[in-house]
Parts: sequence; structure tokens; C-alpha cells
Amino acid sequence: MKCKDLISIAELTPSDIEEIFSVTRELKEWHSKGYDEKCLSGKTLGMIFEKSSMRTRVSFEVAMVQLGGHPIYLTQNDINLGKRETVKDGARVLSRYVDGIVIRTFSQEVIQELARYATVPVINALSDYLHPCQALSDLYTIQEKFGAYTNIKIVFIGDGNNVARSLAQISAKLGIPFHIASPKGYELTSDFTSQVKQMTDRSDILHLYQDPKEAAENANILYTDTWVSMGQEAEAQIRKQAFKGFQINSDLLKVAKDDVKVMHCLPAHRGEEITDEVIDGQHSIVYDQAENRLHLEKALLKLLLRR
Ligand code: CP
Ligand code: NVA
Repeated sequence: MKCKDLISIAELTPSDIEEIFSVTRELKEWHSKGYDEKCLSGKTLGMIFEKSSMRTRVSFEVAMVQLGGHPIYLTQNDINLGKRETVKDGARVLSRYVDGIVIRTFSQEVIQELARYATVPVINALSDYLHPCQALSDLYTIQEKFGAYTNIKIVFIGDGNNVARSLAQISAKLGIPFHIASPKGYELTSDFTSQVKQMTDRSDILHLYQDPKEAAENANILYTDTWVSMGQEAEAQIRKQAFKGFQINSDLLKVAKDDVKVMHCLPAHRGEEITDEVIDGQHSIVYDQAENRLHLEKALLKLLLRR
């Protein structure tokens, strides 16, 4: 993996992604045998979280500890990046103390600026625009469950949001067609879809629908996320209205493959984008998916911080 940071899947090559997956597989296997390579002994990770998190925060902290390193969790109250001091100064000073920075914030541009001025690796732990660690981990999970990607139909039902964008990018990088059904006004934008199309030679990489059932036909993977992302709370009522009908439920499963797998990045809003019956049912792989965040992030930390 040549890049210094992980800001967006757009910056990775297919072989970078394969390398991350291969290290993930190795680390996961060793961990299952009770062994964790202490390759980050003496290294420290700064973790800036300006939004809530359970999976990302805990998996990165545990990943660092399992690899022998030390995580420092920093909230908005601690460093107040961009307000108490500029992003540029924060990047330069943190780089004198820590060996890597994980950041979850609102603006993708802030993450880019932090990476530009930091001399240590910066990892995007979610912005309003992208969620690359989630998408890497999800495609790893798909490969684990199906053994390969060829002829896998991935269908996302819902908002053209950060999670959907990163999934579309990684699908394009790996040459897997990505299908997404969204209500009018909440689709992937045409600017974004043009960028994604340039990431691959395949002409059939993106399929946009307004009808969830049409999209879900013969799906191997049905994926969804919240209708109201962090920062959109004021729009909650309007969004919940717009997304009615874009739910993964047993009716939708009927049009997918018999052995369809259901994914959700979590946290789930049961009864909204997914029903209890489906998330708790035999098709759901959401908890294996969540577990893989840990193994995948260990691989990322090993590849980026050990240099
Ligand atoms: N999927 C995910 O990133 O979860 P958290 O928001 O809890 O970190
Ligand atoms: N789209 C969601 C993902 C949470 C992991 C959000 O941004 O809130």
C-alpha cells in the first residue's frame, strides 16, 4: 500500500485493497488462535471523534491494543479542531506526538486538510461524505462469505449517503456492479456517479433505481443504512416520509436470491430501514460484518503505522 493516508477508497488501487484483505485474513486467523502480533509496540494513535461512534471507536481502540500500541481518544471538547486552533496547526503538532491519526468529523475537506499537513498517516473514520473503513470491511466480509466477488449482485436500498458512496467506490475499484435504489432527491449525484465510472473500465458499474423491488431482484447482498445520518436530525421527519417503502423486510427478500445475505453498517433503526424479523433472521450477517471492522482496521493500522 503506497499511500500515506486512508481518506477515500478513490485513492486506493485494486492491489492495495487486495493487500489490505490479505493482511486482514492473516490477522483474523492468528487472533482466532489466540495470537496477536505486537507489531505496533511503542506506537500511539490519536483518535479524534467529533460525532458519536460505537463500532469505529471501539474497534480502532481494541485494534491498537491488540497490536501492542496505545490509542488516545480525543473528543471535540478536548482539542476543538478548527476552532481552538487551525486544522493545519493541529495536524503539525499532533504529528510530533502520535504515529497516526484517526478522525471522524462532518466535513471531508477537514480530513483532507488534516492529512495534507500531518506528517503521520490519517485515517478517515467517517465524514458526511464517505466512510471508507466501513466499505473496506464490508467487501472483505462479502469475500469471506461468498469466497469471491464474481457474479455477486450487491444492492443498496436507501440514501445515497457516506456509506453508499464508499461502497460504490470500492465496488468500482474491484469491478463489481453496484445497484442502488433511492427515493427521488436522495440518489447518488451525477457528479459523484461520473467520478465512480472513471474508476473502472466496466461500462455497467452503476445501476440506479427508484423502485426497491426492481433493484433487489436476484440480489446476493441486500444492504441498507439509516435514513437519517448524523448531522441530519433536523430533517428526520421529512426523510422518514420520503424513505417509506425503502425498507428491507421479508417481502423484499422474496425477490432476492434464496440465499441472499443482508448487511447493515449499524446502528440500525429497527422498524424503519430494516425490520426485526430480517435483522434477527437467518439471512442477516450484520454482526459478522461488525466484527470484521476490528480485523480490517488492524490490517490498516499495521500497513500504515509500521512504516
Ligand atoms: N458502522 C459504524 O461506523 O458504526 P459507529 O457509528 O458506531 O462507529
Ligand atoms: N450514514 C450513517 C452511518 C453511521 C455509521 C451516518 O453517517 O450517521
